[in-house]
Amino acid sequence: MSFDRLAPHYGWMERVLAGRLLQRCRTAWLGQLAGCERLLVAGVGHGRFLHELLPRHRALRVVCVDASRGMLREAEKRARRARLDVSRVEFVHARLPEWRPRSPAFDAIATHFFLDCFAPPELDAVVARLAGAAAPAAMWLISDFAVPPRGWARQRARAVHALMYAFFRVVTRLPARQLTPPDARLAAHGFALGGRRTFNHGLLQADCWQRPARA
Ligand SMILES: C[S@@+](CC[C@H](N)C(=O)[O-])C[C@H]1O[C@@H](n2cnc3c(N)ncnc32)[C@H](O)[C@@H]1O
Repeated sequence: MSFDRLAPHYGWMERVLAGRLLQRCRTAWLGQLAGCERLLVAGVGHGRFLHELLPRHRALRVVCVDASRGMLREAEKRARRARLDVSRVEFVHARLPEWRPRSPAFDAIATHFFLDCFAPPELDAVVARLAGAAAPAAMWLISDFAVPPRGWARQRARAVHALMYAFFRVVTRLPARQLTPPDARLAAHGFALGGRRTFNHGLLQADCWQRPARA
């Protein structure tokens, strides 16, 4: 599985197919990161999230991990071109769940359109690894595709997901065949859902999960 082939095209494809919709999901809970010092972004991709994150939180240090060298190159190139403060960003080429952070206890984790890349057994391992990299009272911001509970929106979402997974299977050899909600896995690692916003009739959602500080 590799997103390298897709990396040079990811930005314009997103703009054409979704406009600002995915970015609205990524940034839905951006304000919650106030006061955080260290953020881990897993599967950063082309790094569009950084373009609103870095100017908004000027003291934040960010570690961005991605299994695709092409995507990381794209993220760094775009960040430099936009004159973002990349001195606060470390780009790490590594694959989850194998990757272990050198210094864990991140205040916050962000996974945008990343957890939906995994089938159940690997998702367990990825969530466990990221939860292990998080501080006891960490926050976890998640954007992903979603399945609305009923009606035409549910049927439409199913059709969109089928197309999307077929596309990613062909282009990136993504092993996941369908969406696996990560909620129970996050709860198993002590995170509780603090807020959820849905977009485009429930096709997308942006979550803010928080692990309560232990007494
Ligand atoms: C669908 S893209 C999402 C990119 C970006 N986060 C966004 O919001 O558009 C998924 C990203 O996760 C990366 N990825 C997929 N599986 C991975 C893994 N096992 N470990 C690390 N990165 C991975 C891919 O290389 C790709 O850049």
